[in-house]
Amino acid sequence: MSNSIKLNATYPDIQRSQDMLKMARRIMHPVSQTLAKAPGQFSEGVCPVFVERAKGNRIWDVDGNKYLDYYAAIGPISLGYCYDAVDDAIREQLSKGITFSLMHRLEYELCELIHQIIPNAESIRISKTGADVCSAAVRVARAYTRRDKVLCCGYHGWHDWYIATTSRDHGIPEAVKSMSQTFKYNDLEDLSSKIDNHTAAVIMEPVVFEYCQPGYLEGVQALCKKHGALLIFDEMWTGFRLAIGGAQEYFNVVPDLAVYSKAMANGMPIALLTGRNDVMQLFEREVFFFTTFGGETLSLAAAIATIHELKSKNVPEYLRNIGAMLKDGLNGLIASHQLTEYLSCVGYPCRTILNMTPRVDKPLSYYAYIQQELLRYGILWSKFHNMTYAFSEADVDYTLRAYDEILRLVKIRIESGDIDSNLIGQPMETVFRPTKF
Ligand SMILES: Cc1ncc(COP(=O)(O)O)c(C=O)c1O
Repeated sequence: MSNSIKLNATYPDIQRSQDMLKMARRIMHPVSQTLAKAPGQFSEGVCPVFVERAKGNRIWDVDGNKYLDYYAAIGPISLGYCYDAVDDAIREQLSKGITFSLMHRLEYELCELIHQIIPNAESIRISKTGADVCSAAVRVARAYTRRDKVLCCGYHGWHDWYIATTSRDHGIPEAVKSMSQTFKYNDLEDLSSKIDNHTAAVIMEPVVFEYCQPGYLEGVQALCKKHGALLIFDEMWTGFRLAIGGAQEYFNVVPDLAVYSKAMANGMPIALLTGRNDVMQLFEREVFFFTTFGGETLSLAAAIATIHELKSKNVPEYLRNIGAMLKDGLNGLIASHQLTEYLSCVGYPCRTILNMTPRVDKPLSYYAYIQQELLRYGILWSKFHNMTYAFSEADVDYTLRAYDEILRLVKIRIESGDIDSNLIGQPMETVFRPTKF
């Protein structure tokens, strides 16, 4: 019998997942195309590895176990898996064709829609991935300012100019490394000490989990103006979640350029670069940014259908409310179990993370422990709560009841100082360090 979304007698049977992982490791290095889905983020030996299907916020692994999914495909799922209005739009377009010999009208129709809803979208480009549009934004900023230096804050994908600033920078020429630098979030002095008249662009996630201090984004914008650098918001996580138009709408700070992907097409691969007309004009001749599948129509149809749903159902507000119910409920439980010096749930309600303080010895083991115990309740979790429109109050209520019991166990483990002997699988692995300070 497969496990389901209830308190199961045992951890899920994941034999097929494990057999497949063993075979995959012979020929795939690493086995995952997306770092955050890799086995290191899911305690190996107890967590499922391969998925078969999903619907709403439920996901089934290849062994037939069913889980409540708090990962939402690392962001792309905003409405819920297999959402009818989006899937119908994809099917309808599929019956007409996927990629064509000329531009398709949907390219224009999506841009018209984006022009109406994203504050800085005087001009719009469409592409496929987050890294694509981040790199296009940086390139056009360099061309516009005729400068090379880039300052960044957050994660911006796998391309050279950004990965040069991380701990996984092998294979990137020294010349490229010398042109990128990171700065600290919510610290205007730090940015001020790094930005200068050689800076082409400041690219940043407007918020990640730490709350944005009042005036911070305005301060960043003022520093960019002062030094003649362009401000780029990376809205992969904030776009269509915090507000439809993302952080620029939510905080009312309009950057020169902005990039979007993830939540905008409920799982289909598409990305956007929006920005000032005078900057974007450079893509006409001077700056090259084209790709074969840029106008692939299943993703365009999905994006248009998704955005209509996000708008008409006011999904950002829904995520705010349902996410707050989870966040506040979890922080209440942490307090009632007297664990506040160890744990807290932080972030804007649409996307939160369970943080561990430095007082927790072996945090990666504790994460694996909480993950494995949530699995017994049929909850698939890896630190984050990526909320979608598919979550109901009953789901959150159920999750909080599971957390209540698990936090009781966590307290016992912290008091005894013994965590590793309680692990069924491996501790989680550290994600690569996003920035080198
Ligand atoms: C903030 C941010 N920017 C850029 C990217 C890169 O997007 P992609 O993986 O689609 O290239 C990501 C991906 O997680 C992201 O979270």
